[in-house]
Amino acid sequence: MTKRSLPADRDRLAAWRPNIPQFARCSIFVLGEEAQPLHSDEEAMLHPRAGLARRRSFSLGRSAAHDALASLGRDTGPILAGDMREPIWPAGVVGSISHTTDIGIALVAPASRTDGVGVDVEQRRHAPELENRIPRPEERTWLEDRPQSERADDLLALFSAKESIFKAFFPTVRSYFGFEAALLEPTTSGYVGRLVEPVSTEYPPDRPFDVGCGWLGSTVVTWLVLPKSGTENDGQRG
Ligand SMILES: CC(C)(COP(=O)(O)OP(=O)(O)OC[C@H]1O[C@@H](n2cnc3c(N)ncnc32)[C@H](O)[C@@H]1OP(=O)(O)O)[C@@H](O)C(=O)NCCC(=O)NCCS
Repeated sequence: MTKRSLPADRDRLAAWRPNIPQFARCSIFVLGEEAQPLHSDEEAMLHPRAGLARRRSFSLGRSAAHDALASLGRDTGPILAGDMREPIWPAGVVGSISHTTDIGIALVAPASRTDGVGVDVEQRRHAPELENRIPRPEERTWLEDRPQSERADDLLALFSAKESIFKAFFPTVRSYFGFEAALLEPTTSGYVGRLVEPVSTEYPPDRPFDVGCGWLGSTVVTWLVLPKSGTENDGQRG
């Protein structure tokens, strides 16, 4: 990766990595770093009239994904997308991509070690519409207990955590599920999550999982690496 000089916040973000198990890999590309050129099949996935912002964020996401796969030794070709826009990973790999217009992040892991991974990045923004869309009543209660000055950030992080959960579970459940399907309780490092609607037979409401959350300046990243069902870690969080 060739680096040009990045503003301090972005430089810190480019160097930051989430706390994930050793078998997983995470890569971050920040605008100003040399993004890898898209494969021609990836280029073809972009709508011909895709604007600069979509082209840029797609490239940053794909660059991060290829970099993360390379560090697993599994960067084997273009990363195409399925019917529901989900990235299609090399056999035996699970992964997740997120991007803003200037950050791309990808999390990948061997499928033999985890039921799925999810990652999401959001830029701090005024998003009052999330107030009524995202929280469950239990979440509304803890959000209301938070200092007024931190509530908007907490709501955005909660939204991000739920998008990470969607990305981690979608490849196995193969259908859409809404924000009310997950219940999140805050912890010192993120959240304990539960699926409280019948989304996944492997993850009933009494099988919680950890969701990490980190802020770097005005950027929040959330992520999860689910334990592998049917192994000795089955049912263990973290
Ligand atoms: C799919 C979704 C999570 C993507 O999030 P987003 O904030 O729009 O965009 P992000 O930059 O974070 O992520 C985009 C990437 O997500 C990935 N993605 C898209 N659909 C996906 C899916 N069905 N499953 C897994 N990953 C998916 C893609 O890699 C996409 O990037 P790309 O198109 O460049 O490849 C979101 O659009 C959505 O539909 N959410 C509603 C469902 C939900 O979140 N439910 C909460 C359950 S608790």
